[in-house]
Amino acid sequence: MNKEQRIVLTGFMGVGKSSVARHVAHLIKSKRVDLDHELEYGERRTVAQIIDAEGEPAFRDIESRYLQEALDRPDLRVLSLGGGTWTLERNREIIKRSGLTSVWLESTFEHCWLNVAFSRKDRPLARDKKRAFELFQQRQQHYALADWHFVVRPDSTSFDVAKQIIEQIFS
Ligand code: S3P
Repeated sequence: MNKEQRIVLTGFMGVGKSSVARHVAHLIKSKRVDLDHELEYGERRTVAQIIDAEGEPAFRDIESRYLQEALDRPDLRVLSLGGGTWTLERNREIIKRSGLTSVWLESTFEHCWLNVAFSRKDRPLARDKKRAFELFQQRQQHYALADWHFVVRPDSTSFDVAKQIIEQIFS
């Protein structure tokens, strides 16, 4: 087991970043950090409340601040991002500078959309399917810049994906 390895998980909304991160962290016996969760806890508001009240650009500024804070944590091993975090160049830069390995969880739009539709999490940028699909298409080029790509098939569980990540990145 490579004890130095630290990873950041990216990918579209609904692909399962948080669940996969939870399993990876469990398997390597470390804590995981979920960026949306840190931000919501710190701001005492949900991401949806922030985007609805202040707009997406203001949310992105707050998100970048929490990203830097998360990256500064000495105990950080596994970080799950929001679906838009990695699409900003400034965020990719600070992640790279911190030396984390980036992992794209890749899936089809329909798979992600099904999870979004059945989730209780309010995602302001995915309230409309057509708009979400446009975002999905625009973002593929950014996600593709990640160091590793793992395909999440509709029948694979987040535990399966976590095991693949452990085998290939942490061994
Ligand atoms: C967003 C994804 C969300 C959350 C916010 C914006 C995005 O996180 O950060 O609603 O721009 O893709 P999840 O990817 O965990 O849904």
